[in-house]
Amino acid sequence: MSVHKSSKVKKVTTHVLQAMKLQGERIAMITAYDYSMARIIDSTGIDIVLVGDSASNVMAGNESTLPITLDQMIYHATSVVRAINRALVVVDMPFGTYQGNSREALSSAIRIMKETGAHAIKMEGGAEIIESVGRILSAGIPVMGHLGLMPQSIHKFGTYVVRATEEDEASKLLKDAQLLEDAGCFAIVLEKIPAKLAASVSESIRIPVIGIGAGADVDGQVLVLHDMLGINRDFSPRFLRRYHNLYEEIKGAVQNYTNDIKNRDFPNEKEQY
Ligand code: KIV
Repeated sequence: MSVHKSSKVKKVTTHVLQAMKLQGERIAMITAYDYSMARIIDSTGIDIVLVGDSASNVMAGNESTLPITLDQMIYHATSVVRAINRALVVVDMPFGTYQGNSREALSSAIRIMKETGAHAIKMEGGAEIIESVGRILSAGIPVMGHLGLMPQSIHKFGTYVVRATEEDEASKLLKDAQLLEDAGCFAIVLEKIPAKLAASVSESIRIPVIGIGAGADVDGQVLVLHDMLGINRDFSPRFLRRYHNLYEEIKGAVQNYTNDIKNRDFPNEKEQY
C-alpha cells in the first residue's frame, strides 16, 4: 500500500491552537497508535493526534502505562506520523525517560522528534519536572503538559479517583499550570479533576487547556480512541462517551467469518481463481 500525503492541506501547528483558544474555537484531540487508524482519524479534521502511553494498556494489555518503553513509543509514533497530513502529532514521553535528570529527558525527547517526525511531546507533572521541561523547550521542542490524574504516578496516588478535590492539591495544580505556561509549554492536558477547577485553570492561563474528565469549560477535549469506539468494554468512567460498540461489531464479524469457514461457505466460487 502506498502512503499518500497532500501538500495542500493547512496543517495544525501550535500557533493555530493558540489562535483557536483566542477565538474560542474548541480543540479536538484523540489518541492513535497505528497507521491505519491514524489515517481514518486525520481525515475527520481532528486537530491533535496523541500517541499516548495508553498504548501500554490498549495495545499491549498492560495494567498501567508504566511498562511501555521509549523504543515502543517510537515504533507507534512512527506508524502514526506516516498517516497524518493535517493534525499536530504529540507523543507521550514514557515513564522513566524524563523524571530522573534533564539531560536524559532531552535525549529522550530528541530521539522521539528525530526518529518519528512527530511535532511535539507530552510530559506528566509540574514543579517536579520543570527543569526537564525547560531543557527540552530550549532545544526547540514543543511541550504539552499533563496535570491532574497522571497515570504514570498511579502507584503514588494508589487509585484512579478524581484528583484535586482538596484545597491543597487544587492550589498546587493551579500553580503548576502557571509554571508550565511560564516555562513555554504550548498546551496542557487536565485529566479527571473537578470541572470548576479545570475552568479556572483555563481562564487563568493563555495556552490551550485540553480536558479528559475535566468538564466542558476548557479549550478542548481528548479521549482514548479504543474507549470511545467501545473496543474496550472494561473501562467505563463517567466522563467517557462511547460513540460505537466496536467490541460487538468486531466479534460479530469474526464470528461470521469463522462460521463461514467451518460451514465451507468461504471462499465461494467468485472468491477464488
Ligand atoms: O496516554 C494517553 O492516552 C493520555 C490521554 C489520556 C490524555 O495521556
